[in-house]
Amino acid sequence: MATVIVNDRSHEIDLDPQPPLLWVLRDTLGLTGAKYGCGMGLCGACTVLVDGEPRRACVTPISTVAGRRVTTIQGLSPDRGHSVQRAWIAEQVPQCGFCQPGQIMAAAAFLDRHPDPSDAEIDRAMAGILCRCGTYQRVRSGQPPGGVGEPGMPPIAPAVANAVFVATGKPVRSLPIRLGT
Ligand code: FES
Ligand code: FES
Repeated sequence: MATVIVNDRSHEIDLDPQPPLLWVLRDTLGLTGAKYGCGMGLCGACTVLVDGEPRRACVTPISTVAGRRVTTIQGLSPDRGHSVQRAWIAEQVPQCGFCQPGQIMAAAAFLDRHPDPSDAEIDRAMAGILCRCGTYQRVRSGQPPGGVGEPGMPPIAPAVANAVFVATGKPVRSLPIRLGT
């Protein structure tokens, strides 16, 4: 057995057999915020913090976090009030949402150490978290609303939304299609 502190609560975890941290979080503790994507440390969907540092939980043996402080997206704040979560909501970053806990945890750890980063530093820090929906521009923000995936976009085929935006320079704001200002 090993003691693991997850979101400020201690848990006694059986080490035989020894599962990866992600399995313990999701299957044993019911904390399904960290996602299973590749299971090979490649996509970042499972990113959590261990003593404040981002770690890929799918390839982290549970024994290596014994006695250490693990933070999942559920433990980042009690009310989604962490500054990164508030920024994510304000910028309407998520699309399907699958990668977003990993994105947010990586961003929170990075901004903790680099409160005023450059765009290049942000790109480097976030590069390892893959997003199949392509939310990268919203993560970096500062871009004006435009094509599909931008704030205020109704559900519409990406090709149609982007074609309208390219042709008119205006985003689709409602359906049936009506051009925004
Ligand atoms: S699920 Fe862990 S890195 Fe992809
Ligand atoms: S929001 Fe869908 S994978 Fe990133």
